Amino acid sequence: MSAAGFLPNDSSFATRAIHDGQDPEKWSSHCMIPPIVMSTTFKQSEPCVFKGYDYSRSGNPTRDVLESCLASLDDAKYGLAYASGLGATTTVIHLLNAGDHFVAMDDLYGGTVRYFNKIVKRMNINVTYVDGTDHNEIEAAIRDNTKLIWIETPTNPLLKVADIKKICDIAHKKNILVAVDNTFLTPYFQRPLNLGADMVVYSLTKYMNGHSDIIMGAVTTNNQEVYENLKFLQKSLGIVPSPFDCYLVNRSLKTLHIRMKEHMANGLAVGKFLESHPLVEKVNHPGLPAHPQYELTLRQCHGHSGMISFYIKGGLKEAKRFLSALKVITLAESLGGFESLAEIPSLMTHASVPPEQREKLGLTDNLIRLSVGLESSEDLIKDLDQALQASAK
Ligand SMILES: Cc1ncc(COP(=O)(O)O)c(C=O)c1O
Repeated sequence: MSAAGFLPNDSSFATRAIHDGQDPEKWSSHCMIPPIVMSTTFKQSEPCVFKGYDYSRSGNPTRDVLESCLASLDDAKYGLAYASGLGATTTVIHLLNAGDHFVAMDDLYGGTVRYFNKIVKRMNINVTYVDGTDHNEIEAAIRDNTKLIWIETPTNPLLKVADIKKICDIAHKKNILVAVDNTFLTPYFQRPLNLGADMVVYSLTKYMNGHSDIIMGAVTTNNQEVYENLKFLQKSLGIVPSPFDCYLVNRSLKTLHIRMKEHMANGLAVGKFLESHPLVEKVNHPGLPAHPQYELTLRQCHGHSGMISFYIKGGLKEAKRFLSALKVITLAESLGGFESLAEIPSLMTHASVPPEQREKLGLTDNLIRLSVGLESSEDLIKDLDQALQASAK
């Protein structure tokens, strides 16, 4: 089925989310719902002879179920789960060596920027930030020792959209790997591996789990060498999720397609409302024709989630009044849950982005980020309207 104007989606997505990796035959009881295997260790018949698992940091049956399902949703051969989205990012960066360089988009989740600037640089791995929508800037940033291009699309919080295929063409001519953070869209709306990416990175904490009760991350890939390195790093860095959390994320994936359709419908309704509101300066939503990469979004994606950002008229005072007046929508960090959340990136999720970078990007104090949830869109719109009125008082 195709959402208005977007690429048609794969009709087997829901079937794969429900069945792939879940085969009852692999458990002696033939249970339909995969068991939560909490055991940290497994009996060996003689030293180093065991049935698939020896120690749960290296591999765990419940984690395997989730990883297979994640791989299938991205049309990937391999999936790996990590203890958080940032844990997944850390693992990908550990594919690089001291002295290497990578190129990253300049508008990224603030925690990713903090990790790149405050920790990765200490490892003598350097990063150059570029506007991911400007291919000349990307090409100009590539050096002889560039090993990776890090894309987040749509970006957090400005919702800029990068052309994944084009960037992969540029990178692959120089044997550079491309990783795409697909947290905002999930494989339901965007499958970067099919556009040429080498790795897809997720904060599963967000839409993939969708219930705001688990921190987890993942990487999917079709590249066997990359997979083997990431699997080795998963065990060696120890950034692994608990089997109980894997069970819950696996369960959440069964409704991903239904949740994402509803997030999209609500997000579009809210985006259109905000666009027409006299107290709103500008709305960033890639599924609305006013967005600068609207055409690219339709060509590259199967839809858009509930992520929106917008500039409220006024400054910090008005933005704070707006956030405090919200009644249905909650002022909180994070995104992708069933409940709607609002936040002010310059003070909250992106406070660790250097001020001059925030200024350059337009990450100003009147920018509000919304994660539109699954409540009734009429209630959300009423709430936004009354809070906007309150902001101007
Ligand atoms: C786009 C994006 N990537 C990665 C992360 C990090 O994920 P986690 O909080 O699960 O470590 C976040 C967190 O907000 C995010 O928004």
